[in-house]
Amino acid sequence: MTRSLTDAADLSSAPIDVAAVLDHLVQEADAAAATSIGFPGAVDLDQSEVMVRLGTRLWNNIGDPRDEGGTAHTRVLERAVIAWFADTLAMPPTDRWGYVTTGGTEGNLSALNAAQRRLRKARVYYSAAAHYSIPKILTMIGAPGVVVEAHRDGEMDYAHLAAQLHRHRRFPAIVVATAGTTMTEAVDDTARIRSLLDEHPAGAHLHVDAALSGIPLALDGRLRLDDAAGIDSITISGHKFLGTPTPCGVVLIRDSIRTRRGRIAYTGTDDTTITGSRCGLAAALMWYAIATHGREGHLWRAVQARRLAAYATAELIAVGWPAWRHDHAFTVVLPTPPEPVSKKWPLATDGDTSHIICMPGITQGQIDAFVSDIAAAVAPKCIPRPRSASKSRTGNSP
Ligand SMILES: Cc1ncc(COP(=O)(O)O)c(C=O)c1O
Repeated sequence: MTRSLTDAADLSSAPIDVAAVLDHLVQEADAAAATSIGFPGAVDLDQSEVMVRLGTRLWNNIGDPRDEGGTAHTRVLERAVIAWFADTLAMPPTDRWGYVTTGGTEGNLSALNAAQRRLRKARVYYSAAAHYSIPKILTMIGAPGVVVEAHRDGEMDYAHLAAQLHRHRRFPAIVVATAGTTMTEAVDDTARIRSLLDEHPAGAHLHVDAALSGIPLALDGRLRLDDAAGIDSITISGHKFLGTPTPCGVVLIRDSIRTRRGRIAYTGTDDTTITGSRCGLAAALMWYAIATHGREGHLWRAVQARRLAAYATAELIAVGWPAWRHDHAFTVVLPTPPEPVSKKWPLATDGDTSHIICMPGITQGQIDAFVSDIAAAVAPKCIPRPRSASKSRTGNSP
């Protein structure tokens, strides 16, 4: 294509070469894939069977997943997905509810909206390392937020949380813990947070934003929503660990703490979700990823990804680039590489810190290529040759 993609896609300039535009998009994405190690989407699962068989019509899961009405919907798959997530998280069977969302942000919005309806006037505590969707949502729902300090490794500072809870003790507390912070994949300690909330006199809700690490930590048994955990709601993304080819996620909330809205007469469905129409294809894609791999398959994917992350960390350190990671993490944190490297490898960067994420599907070859580019960039431009005895005697420089 000789014209720019923007010009070629311009809908006011007929004729449009539709095939060329689509080809161009695919070629651009293919070309970028080799160096895409900075963002958290798994690339190892082939879900084309779902796209081919279901991708040509509208599947609309409007309303609650428990509804039966409508013509073409995948609510039966959505219910199976929600049950799998809830079982994997050990959520009590009699006290669980959830649905398939558009992604982590909608899940956080749905959970925080439910928490706020339950605890009017609550202050919402979130760490400085929390995802940017949290303060945005608080503005949307009109809830006052309290920022809690985070340590350099991304984990919440519990002493600061305790001090802030005490300061606002007259108000109910909604705490957002993160399981897999965006930059360092830190996991906040929900048991410590819960013990602080148990002392909070005005009532409390504990929400976990587990967009990235929810599935791997649940498969490890490190993240549980059983009665002992005291976690009231959780958000998990679908396009991250499950690598669905469309953004999506799930939100799970204790059924007993939800406040009910009404029934919509014209659709004959319960109004329990943030959006009206909902993507039935997303539910089918998540269902397919789970059905074709099972718990063991996904646990193995997580193990392999962590192994590659450990390898990447060691290789970077070996070439003199000080990288580190949390032991459960796919994310490797490193000082932002110099420009030739950061131009070729689009990394997520926050000031002088960047990260790569060894999601399932990222290969050792990609890591080796990245490390070798870093090594080349940091190596002295002119490596002095060892001076021979005769040259050093004559004073010749190399
Ligand atoms: C911790 C965390 N929460 C929420 C989100 C938002 O997810 P989404 O982009 O699916 O809305 C992200 C995305 O990167 C995230 O890392």
